[in-house]
Amino acid sequence: MLPDLDQLKATYLSQIAEADGLDGLDAIRVDALGKKGNISTAMKNLGQLDGDARREAGQALNALKNEIASAIEAKKEELARAALDARLASEQVDVTLSPRPEAEGRIHPLSRTLEEVTAIFAEMGFTVAEGPDIESDFYNFTALNIPPEHPARQEHDTFYLPPDAEGKRKVLRTHTSPVQIRTMEKIEPPIRIIAPGRTYRSDHDATHSPMFHQCEGLVIGKDIHMGHLKGCLIDFCRAFFGVDDLPVRFRPSYFPFTEPSAEVDIGCSREGGGLKIGAGDDWLEILGSGMVNPKVLENCGIDPNEYQGFAFGMGLERIAMLKYGIPDLRPFYDSDLRWMRHYGFMPFDPPSIHLGLGA
Ligand code: DAH
Repeated sequence: MLPDLDQLKATYLSQIAEADGLDGLDAIRVDALGKKGNISTAMKNLGQLDGDARREAGQALNALKNEIASAIEAKKEELARAALDARLASEQVDVTLSPRPEAEGRIHPLSRTLEEVTAIFAEMGFTVAEGPDIESDFYNFTALNIPPEHPARQEHDTFYLPPDAEGKRKVLRTHTSPVQIRTMEKIEPPIRIIAPGRTYRSDHDATHSPMFHQCEGLVIGKDIHMGHLKGCLIDFCRAFFGVDDLPVRFRPSYFPFTEPSAEVDIGCSREGGGLKIGAGDDWLEILGSGMVNPKVLENCGIDPNEYQGFAFGMGLERIAMLKYGIPDLRPFYDSDLRWMRHYGFMPFDPPSIHLGLGA
């Protein structure tokens, strides 16, 4: 026999209204509409009725089934909305709370200097090249026209590694110049690179550290001349020190790997004990340079009758100390936070030369 449909409807609708979770709601669905649920069972029993009675009861059962199904759907949505409201309420952020203090890092003056140097040369079309810190004698000396008995070897206070199986001793590179050789071996001219990196010499005082940094530069082409060297380095010095009319002087010098060679000085004043760059009539040496020695080009398989170029090298700590008024080199590597807070830069400070030469 059919159950009392009004009774069923009243029971289910009130159960649905009172359900307080998805699990409970699903249990009601199974009890009413599941395979063995009350409505489904009643549907199966319709066959016992006949004629009009069966049609009427069928319609009534279908209507009830639909009503219960949509009541369950509506309740489901209501429960989901309530859950979301509860989550939003519990995860509310109190924007009136004062912020917790955050530890602020600093950019090391050396990193900053390297960024600035790279930005300036990038504006002039240079790319960055790299080489290993542990070098062979060939790349560090011989290929750069510094043969075994050359006096320049003594000046470098080289750190030697223990001899290998063939008795050859590698070195910690004493300058970034070996990257010139590696670059010329690897790529065909025209070449326009800088090579910043760590360098090593057995030396330690207020302005020397056994590990320090240099930046090398190399330009090779068919008609690169001394005028290019001068223009490039004058522009660099003025952009780096931020003095438009900075006096720059090229003083004849000697390096085995360049001919002719010149050291570059910038104008400064030392009056009153303080150093002022760009004023006064004193000079300060900041880098070495020259036209690449034809022997060096030959050592790299480049025909000196077809190509020529210029090179330069500078100490990054030195130019950082000069630009930022840092008197002693040793604390650069002490990781002393007091020093970093004083000489370091805020991470989001706009770099002073963010536009390179265009600034
Ligand atoms: N390698 C030299 C040094 O360590 C610096 C230098 C001078 C590099 C003249 C050059 C150059 O490329 O042309 O003192």
